[in-house]
Amino acid sequence: MWFLWLICLLLPTLISGEEEIRPAQPNIIFILADDLGFNDVGFHGSAEIPTPNIDALAYSGIILNRYYVAPICTPSRSALMTGKYPIHTGMQHTVLYAAEPRGLPLEEKILPQYLNELGYTSHIAGKWHLGHWKLKYTPLHRGFSSHVGFWSGHQDYNDHTAVENNQWGLDMRNGTQVAYDLHGHYTTDVITDHSVKVIASHNATKGPLFLYVAHAACHSSNPYNPLPVPDNDVLKMSHIPHYKRRKFAAMVSKMDDSVGQIVDQLRKSNMLENSIIIFSSDNGGPAQGFNLNFASNYPLKGVKNTLWEGGVRAAGLMWSPLLKKSQRVSNQTMHIIDWLPTLLEAAGGPPAVANLNQQIDGQSIWRALVQDKASPRLNVLHNIDDIWGSAALSVGDWKLVKGTNYRGSWDGWYGPAGERDPRQYDWQLVAKSRVGKALDALKMLPSRADQQRIRAAATVTCPAQSSQGTSCLATAFSAPCLFHIRDDPCEQYNLAKQYPEVVNALMTELERFNATAVPPSNKPADPRADPRFWNYTWTNFGDYQNTRNDLDTLSGDITLAKTV
Ligand SMILES: *[C@@H]1O[C@H](CO)[C@@H](O)[C@H](O)[C@H]1NC(C)=O
Ligand SMILES: *[C@@H]1O[C@H](CO)[C@@H](O)[C@H](O)[C@H]1NC(C)=O
Ligand SMILES: *[C@@H]1O[C@H](CO)[C@@H](O)[C@H](O)[C@H]1NC(C)=O
Ligand SMILES: *[C@@H]1O[C@H](CO)[C@@H](O)[C@H](O)[C@H]1NC(C)=O
Ligand SMILES: *[C@@H]1O[C@H](CO)[C@@H](O)[C@H](O)[C@H]1NC(C)=O
Repeated sequence: MWFLWLICLLLPTLISGEEEIRPAQPNIIFILADDLGFNDVGFHGSAEIPTPNIDALAYSGIILNRYYVAPICTPSRSALMTGKYPIHTGMQHTVLYAAEPRGLPLEEKILPQYLNELGYTSHIAGKWHLGHWKLKYTPLHRGFSSHVGFWSGHQDYNDHTAVENNQWGLDMRNGTQVAYDLHGHYTTDVITDHSVKVIASHNATKGPLFLYVAHAACHSSNPYNPLPVPDNDVLKMSHIPHYKRRKFAAMVSKMDDSVGQIVDQLRKSNMLENSIIIFSSDNGGPAQGFNLNFASNYPLKGVKNTLWEGGVRAAGLMWSPLLKKSQRVSNQTMHIIDWLPTLLEAAGGPPAVANLNQQIDGQSIWRALVQDKASPRLNVLHNIDDIWGSAALSVGDWKLVKGTNYRGSWDGWYGPAGERDPRQYDWQLVAKSRVGKALDALKMLPSRADQQRIRAAATVTCPAQSSQGTSCLATAFSAPCLFHIRDDPCEQYNLAKQYPEVVNALMTELERFNATAVPPSNKPADPRADPRFWNYTWTNFGDYQNTRNDLDTLSGDITLAKTV
């Protein structure tokens, strides 16, 4: 059996005459931005926020222009870690709140665990947001060797406290210990410093590195100070008229600088040439005050936590010298669930993914990306949320959107458009950035003319008018709307009336997915989680045995017995 399988595996390679050269396994650096909009990076056409380091990676790698994620944090991170749609892990409905006694199910094997089996050492810097009520849900118990960062969904960037439901607590950890000493260190810098340290101390003779850099940026902080960022950085964005957008831009710029420092350390450690770097947002941007934030998905429709393109089509790129056809804009369809098998194939070749497809939803896009072939992904389930009454699915260029969130109040197009005139974009910054210089030394940075061509190709524009279609007036549980995403990326023209047979086919596909869904795992807040019981920290409250008396005593020291 084993032998036959091996022959099947080798046959296509032998026939096509391609040599399967396996160099040393690549280091994998996955940089996940939080709440970054489609239009908040320079490579997509916004000249408003300078992101020269990210742009340099984009122009010399592959810009993923047809790349989808889940519409909000926890579902997206669960999909990245498991290779499964959130409807298959119970993570499909909103986020995990810090007081909830739940987490990503422990039966799920996650990305670092798979990679460790292939010889990798895995580390995480930054946000987890997949459960912490018991220690066994936290990163060090799920394949990561170190973690400096936080367990919940957001925090203040200076004092690292998180406010949820009027409960206030510190959420910053070094490993499993509360990191009181990091007070006052800006979160983006804490994450960068740990990332740089992990790379600098990596010993390549002990195998390759997987580093998951999960930035807090540019998620908003607590309501009393939603966009904390040093004044000096805000001053550099003085060309942006709206003050809150200016602060948001400064937060993005700090993150761009972090990408520069990480790539520079890879260069110094002689690891860059054998690395795969991914940069991705976790979901669409919260625009115009959504979550008290000021991202932009322009010209895409909707915001974070909606199923419109602005909520699920993410800014993303992949960079690696292993990509034979890079310096291009890819329209290969990809979903965040595909990273797990894609990276496993990059790390371990076809055998590493041979039996995975019965267990996960993701598909390896590795060969398609390396060789610029058609993506094997034909459909994308954006989500099914029966609590809110919304669902969306893409099949090829068609997209079905059924129902909506927020009673339709975030179903518009939100600015700022940014300055989209390419002449306003400062091309010199790209070459002068840390990443630009590192890639130039590797002779991987394309010429200015090629950069301009790539950036133009990555810019999405809306057709001004269409002879067909009506606007989609979606309400929760309403009749589905249909869009042709290639012709109408901005979802302006609902074609449901014109193409009823397409609507039916996509509804059938949606029902097929729905039949496989597990119930959402959301739980009411556990009163034991209140940070007041834990020296004002968010903690793994589920590992301790509280008594009712403890809960009634809201002040003073409480001695808590550990549960077995
Ligand atoms: C985390 O703890 C380790 C081990 O005690 C220590 O070496 C390291 O400096 C700490 N990191 C931070 C960011 O405090
Ligand atoms: C790396 O690991 C190898 C094998 O364990 C060891 O011999 C070597 O001294 C290590 N190098 C550094 C710089 O720690
Ligand atoms: C993708 O790009 C290729 C080459 O540029 C083009 O031929 C193809 O039609 C595009 N497909 C889609 C779905 O946009
Ligand atoms: C999914 O199935 C459940 C029950 O089986 C049903 O209540 C719900 O409406 C379905 N959702 C969609 C989007 O079809
Ligand atoms: C409680 O928190 C304070 C900081 O707010 C810290 O200095 C102190 O060490 C903590 N106490 C314990 C027992 O962890």
